[in-house]
Amino acid sequence: MITEVKTPSRSYEVISKSGALCSLIPTLDKVARGSRIAIITDDKVDSIYKGRIESILGDAGYRFVKFVIKNGEASKNPETLFAFLEFMASEGITRSDCVLAFGGGVVGDLGGFAASVYQRGIKLIQVPTTLLAMVDSSVGGKTAVDLKAGKNLAGSFWQPFGVICDTDFTKTLPKDVFRDGCAEVIKYGVILDATLFERLKSGIDGCLEYAVTRSIALKRDVVEADEKDTGARAILNFGHTFGHAIEKLSRFEVSHGSAVAKGMLIASSAAGQLGISDLTDQIRGILLSYGFDLSCPYGASEVAIAAMSDKKRSGEAINLILPEKIGKCVQYPIKASELCSLLEACL
Ligand code: NAD
Ligand code: GLY
Repeated sequence: MITEVKTPSRSYEVISKSGALCSLIPTLDKVARGSRIAIITDDKVDSIYKGRIESILGDAGYRFVKFVIKNGEASKNPETLFAFLEFMASEGITRSDCVLAFGGGVVGDLGGFAASVYQRGIKLIQVPTTLLAMVDSSVGGKTAVDLKAGKNLAGSFWQPFGVICDTDFTKTLPKDVFRDGCAEVIKYGVILDATLFERLKSGIDGCLEYAVTRSIALKRDVVEADEKDTGARAILNFGHTFGHAIEKLSRFEVSHGSAVAKGMLIASSAAGQLGISDLTDQIRGILLSYGFDLSCPYGASEVAIAAMSDKKRSGEAINLILPEKIGKCVQYPIKASELCSLLEACL
């Protein structure tokens, strides 16, 4: 399945299906023929898929170099970014060459940021290997590293030149990492697509390709409407405002997907409290069926304070994304002073 993404910065194709990796060379031939390829991956992906990308590139006559980072969020920092930039410079990667990010969202965000600043911007191909990276981070051009003060505080918008989502990579994912990605797919159902939501109720295994491709198309529509995240793109943060707060309060012990699941439930409950909708039971039901722990070990004021420190806050208000019905959401700005009492009624 091919999803075309057209933004003011760049147009590109996202190929999503089982076996999509066989489209890597045709994609490179289209957008980066003759380029040298700087592969960035993590040690876990590298050890599971040993030599897979390298042999595909080598057989097609592409020259490549490879940089392997330690797996996990802790690597998404300026030090690893600069180590990769220095590596590319020492290997003589030029402006006409291409970064290939092979891994989850950490590799994609870091590799994407590096591609955006190396020699003021070189080509980028994303080959996501987690469900989350397939349906979210590899599409839309957000790249970043974390700073000591918080997640994703330094980054850029740099659209890839092509994305290859081979759903077969999900077969080797640990259960909890796969479930993290499911939270994002369920999110798309709640905010944009009641049909996707209905199909997800019977589990994702029987409809993985459909769920991935549909999620990508939904994200594409949002990104095309607001590439630089100045308005409509905010709806993708459904569950994330409270989710990020919970992640931060747990010192990142609670994974991103689990935190987003808890955040989606809190947002649904907030929508109920505000008389916007009555979806809490439905949303709780689907999240429980995917095995998410929906308990929130933090109090209303802790969550409110952590949510107010989110980088997406504007002034004294924070923009909540609340479900109006399954498949439709609204943006609801709320003052800091009102957030705590709203959360007291939800937690
Ligand atoms: P991740 O990249 O850390 O991957 C999770 C774990 O799975 C890692 O240990 C990794 O080595 C392993 N892994 C990856 N692919 C595998 C495979 N096929 N088989 C077995 N193990 C595999 O985490 P993630 O959940 O993919 O991404 C999270 C990151 O994405 C965060 O940094 C987040 O900020 C970022 N993100 C970015 C955007 C965006 O728009 N740019 C959107 C959402 C999330
Ligand atoms: N993951 C949120 C966005 O891409 O805007």
